[in-house]
Amino acid sequence: MSEQRHPARTARPRHYLMCRPTHFTVDYRINPWMDPAKPVDTALAVLQWERLYELYQELGHTVELIEPLPGLPDMVYAANGATVHDGRVLVANFRYEQRAAEAAAYREWFENAGHTEVRDAVHTNEGEGDYLVAGDRVLAGTGFRTEPAAHAEAQELFGVPVVGLTLVDPRYYHLDTALAVLDDDEIMYYPDAFSDASRRTLRELYPDALLADEADAEVFGLNAISDGLNVLLPQAATALADKLAARGFRPVGIDLSELLKGGGSVKCCTLEIRHGATGGRR
Ligand code: ARG
Repeated sequence: MSEQRHPARTARPRHYLMCRPTHFTVDYRINPWMDPAKPVDTALAVLQWERLYELYQELGHTVELIEPLPGLPDMVYAANGATVHDGRVLVANFRYEQRAAEAAAYREWFENAGHTEVRDAVHTNEGEGDYLVAGDRVLAGTGFRTEPAAHAEAQELFGVPVVGLTLVDPRYYHLDTALAVLDDDEIMYYPDAFSDASRRTLRELYPDALLADEADAEVFGLNAISDGLNVLLPQAATALADKLAARGFRPVGIDLSELLKGGGSVKCCTLEIRHGATGGRR
């Protein structure tokens, strides 16, 4: 897409769920970024996270919080707790035992918040880590965490097409580490994270997608949140920020370096609550 052709961008207010990293640390390794030998500054993680939390509110979004539980250091990555589409909540079913107990906590949060359609998952899925709602479809990652059978389960629950995409590089183990939804029909992604067939699928569905290079992918530049205008992303992803600006988005860089030590950034810390006609809180 050339600079001249981008549409006028508008922000739509969002509703997010986040989890303060009170108990964040790295004491196990379930992805290549995690190194239990490397020290983590939990207080700094909290400060960095709070900046993100404030930014969302400054941008006019609603942010709710789930209580962080001791012994669940990865709970800060709220994106993994569930996927919410049109008011329906599909609770995560974590691949690794270290995170398994988070599912019940997220389930309980949604029930207590008044959501009536909250569904436990039969198949392994890690919420919005691997399910990205893009307009009328859901892009769904597999390869490392979420199982292909889970994609069918999500399609049956949400009633919209779920497009399976296979991740092939263990550094990009969740779909949201390699692809971000910028607007209903606009995405950005890092092609090398995907199988050849999935790259073809992405080219077919999104011929104008913004492609990220390795330097931006490596600093988690694709682990971004867009409200249609503002795109919050790790500040180290500078080339990506320029490309976003050239398309009429407003990139907002943020430093979440401590949370990167767990293998996550902006998007991982953010679960979007998408309300619909089908129940749940408005
Ligand atoms: N340490 C966490 C894990 O490996 C990081 C999760 C990051 N979340 C995300 N949505 N990509 O499960």
